[in-house]
Amino acid sequence: MLICAISAKPKQGVTLYFDQEIKLNKLLFMLILGVFANAVVAEETDKRQILKLSEPQREHVLQEMRALLSGTQSILDALAKDDMAAVAQQARLLGMTMAHKAEDHLKGALPQEFMKLGMTVHQDFDQLAADAESMKDSKHSLSQLSASMAKCVACHATYQIRTQHQNPAYSRHRTRATR
Ligand code: HEC
Repeated sequence: MLICAISAKPKQGVTLYFDQEIKLNKLLFMLILGVFANAVVAEETDKRQILKLSEPQREHVLQEMRALLSGTQSILDALAKDDMAAVAQQARLLGMTMAHKAEDHLKGALPQEFMKLGMTVHQDFDQLAADAESMKDSKHSLSQLSASMAKCVACHATYQIRTQHQNPAYSRHRTRATR
């Protein structure tokens, strides 16, 4: 009787354990599936306004973007060292001189709103440079940088670039048309 009870208990315990393990595996599987499904859905529901650019135009914009990121990193590095001359120098590289270089190549390819927002970012960096030289106040520069970077965030939330080649809507449309 006692032996029976003892052997029954662990058995029950074992089945319970396996049951839980199966449930856990199921849960894990669903979770992984969910993550993948989410990634696919996220890609398909990118509702940001599409900028249709040629391949070289896209490369040009992205190159400027990478320069902006690397420039802001250099500004932060100089600010951390309280080197206000370097802050001014780095900020000036992202100012209106940088904007003029890009202008011709992209003329007409980008919407007015996009260009305007981009220009104000370049103006911000010229202002940051001027203030870094005259005020030498790293806290002030930091808040200017933060305000300017809010524009990076706003623009990225609004636009995406698509070339004809990578535009899924375009290729779907074409497949249907050639059927
Ligand atoms: C006027 C709009 C606009 C502003 C302002 C802007 N960006 Fe962008 N940026 C874009 C767009 C559009 C893309 C491409 C996004 C996409 O296609 O998903 C992009 C892409 C990028 C990329 C990716 C580059 C690559 O090689 O893929 C980086 C990095 C970046 N931006 C940094 C910045 C930083 C830093 C700032 C601010 C200092 C900034 N951007 C301001 C529009 C903007």
